[in-house]
Amino acid sequence: MPDSILIAVAWPYANGSIHVGSVAGAYLPADIFARYHRLRGNDVVMISGSDAHGTPVTIAAEQRGVSPEQVSSEYQTEFLDGWDRLGISFDLFTSTHTKNHAETAQDMFLRLMKKGYIYKDSMTQPFCETDDRFLPDRYVEGKCPHCSYEGARGDQCDKCGKTLDPVDLIDIVCRTCRNTPVTRKTEHFFMKFSAFQNQLLEWVRGQDHFKPNVKNFTIAYLEGGLHDRAITRDLAWGVPVPVEGYEDKRIYVWWEAVIGYLSATKEWAAITGQPDRWKDFWQDSCRPYYFMGKDNIPFHTMIWPSMLMGYGGLNLPYDVPANEYLNLQGQKVSTSRNWAVWLPEYLDRYEADPLRYMLAANMPETSDSQFSWKEYVRR
Ligand code: MF3
Ligand code: ZN
Repeated sequence: MPDSILIAVAWPYANGSIHVGSVAGAYLPADIFARYHRLRGNDVVMISGSDAHGTPVTIAAEQRGVSPEQVSSEYQTEFLDGWDRLGISFDLFTSTHTKNHAETAQDMFLRLMKKGYIYKDSMTQPFCETDDRFLPDRYVEGKCPHCSYEGARGDQCDKCGKTLDPVDLIDIVCRTCRNTPVTRKTEHFFMKFSAFQNQLLEWVRGQDHFKPNVKNFTIAYLEGGLHDRAITRDLAWGVPVPVEGYEDKRIYVWWEAVIGYLSATKEWAAITGQPDRWKDFWQDSCRPYYFMGKDNIPFHTMIWPSMLMGYGGLNLPYDVPANEYLNLQGQKVSTSRNWAVWLPEYLDRYEADPLRYMLAANMPETSDSQFSWKEYVRR
């Protein structure tokens, strides 16, 4: 009997090109793993897609003066071309901006609400009086309340990896106009993540095959307490909240993007002409593996598993083999400082296999590793 292997790969934000750091962090290891299991005769489906919503995409669109739809569809085309040229053998690389995905996300939202895991509450959110709008997630910057890192964003701290809410930031500023926002009351839906803290701890403690960094980070995080968080935002771009009166809000991008693993498997099954085949990977015996960079760990070992536990009847991750970072010539890759080797530029000049070989040989599996052109040539 072949094994069922779901290979779920982190969805790149459709707001910029892929760099070789993410290739080494997620796409290449996932591809090698998929090819290996296909050769073994196992039943493999490898899926991902563009993470099309949320503030990463709206900010890029505003900077360029075009619509978020335009930005995300441009990068969808670029990503597909990159996978093709690099030989990343996705069974489906879709986007979160599809009808199937919106329906799957809304179904999960409504089911969790019915089961009491999602509730309404009012909260304060930063509001920019200059720009006359709420400032969710990446529209604000400030100091991390956990580790004091200065450049933390309103959704996550790049330094300590903790997930954040905009109002947690110290010395908060609007990223568009650099003014200090005021706070205003707004109604949102919250997910009762706190209800899953113990169940998650018990689950993670039993995962002896997890990488030590993934297991230890998750246990330490959970022991510090898993808090309820708002899962809707004052934004016009994203999956609509399926509740009357919330027409001008959207589901939080991270909360719906992780559902992409399920919706993409459904889309893949429909395309292959066996619409029920997704169940082989989500309801029957299957080992789901999630490939990503280390900054994505909390979303895949806590947020997504608690959503799956709450929904019921769907497989939890079997493994979350998150990689560390691939630094570029001694410095951390930085999109804002344009310090990266961009995949499309690489592929315009050189062939895929030397890069695949070099990254496989230097893969940041247990600690950060380095990319340098000198080493590339030597290899
Ligand atoms: N877009 C996110 C990032 O680039 C990853 C999303 S993974 C998903 O960090 F599962 F949520 F889709
Ligand atoms: Zn921090």
